[in-house]
Amino acid sequence: MPTKSALITGICGQDGRYLSELLLSKGYEVHGTIASRAPGVGEADENLFYWDLSDGTNLQQIFKETQPDEVYNLAAQSHVRLSFELPIHTANVTGVGTLRVLEAIRQFQETSGKQIRFYQASSSEMFGQVKHSPQNEDTPFHPRSPYACAKVFGFWQTVNYRESYGMFACNGILFNHESPFRGEAFVTRKITRAAARIKVGLQQKLKLGNTQARRDWGFAGDYVDAMWKMMQQDEADDFVVATGVTHSVQDFLEIAFGHLDLDLEEVVETDQSLFRPAEVDTLCGDASKAREKLGWEPKVSFEELVRMMVDRDLKIAERDAASR
Ligand code: GDD
Repeated sequence: MPTKSALITGICGQDGRYLSELLLSKGYEVHGTIASRAPGVGEADENLFYWDLSDGTNLQQIFKETQPDEVYNLAAQSHVRLSFELPIHTANVTGVGTLRVLEAIRQFQETSGKQIRFYQASSSEMFGQVKHSPQNEDTPFHPRSPYACAKVFGFWQTVNYRESYGMFACNGILFNHESPFRGEAFVTRKITRAAARIKVGLQQKLKLGNTQARRDWGFAGDYVDAMWKMMQQDEADDFVVATGVTHSVQDFLEIAFGHLDLDLEEVVETDQSLFRPAEVDTLCGDASKAREKLGWEPKVSFEELVRMMVDRDLKIAERDAASR
């Protein structure tokens, strides 16, 4: 079988990292786009292309060079609280950016005759003020942030390109998924990093916003497998990807600090500036469709995930402490 080519937008993020490992292990030729602010900028790599979701101009050239069979759109301004401070930027990048990729694929297919499959990183944040629990593919959306509104736009554009042009375009509605490579501004990694740094004496306090919020947290390594499986279906469709188990930020805190025998009462402080103008109180996903149609299931439990993240952050903190 000829080698398949994949293009991952946002390849330097957590999911890009796990997905590229998965695709390489399956024999794919993997290409990725990185924004100009991404780490490693300026280093030559024939599989990496500088591109930003706000830019519609050079996608055709990137498609020409990479000839992708599959495009995974993982790039976004993905921080919910930041989207309240940068609403227009978030709409342009996370929302219209998705449309730029879809339209570029449509035009490329028309001129080259090549068929490209498209995966959109849709988000459980679209459920926002949830209408039912647990949430599945039929649950109505009620987005609660500029980020979530932008993701709803991207979701429906993906459905529209599928229905209007017969494109293979699918949405993975992924609930929160974490790993040791999670960005430090997201609550899970902020907690595990702080616990490790407090343990070795590099940090004294941890400031948090709403610790009562509840999320359905899974392991990113498990979730990229669902992305790939969606792209191998005979027909494009939309799937919820979740564990079906929900925990509070407080639960996460207690397991992380408990793992290092730390007393969190003394170090954790509430910071009002970290609360959001509108909060998503609770999310819990029903991934029955993914289980049935994709044969997908999560493998890593919540407790294993927290410990995995703390253990890696402890290694980093010990190294940082030793090099001081
Ligand atoms: N980031 C952050 N920082 N969140 C905090 C903090 C803090 O100091 N304190 C409390 N929280 C609460 C937030 O208010 C939210 O309710 C919860 O912790 C999780 O916040 P994040 O980790 O930032 O993730 P998110 O749920 O808002 O969004 C993530 O998951 C979505 C999928 O549902 C992001 O990865 C999104 O891009 C993704 O779509």
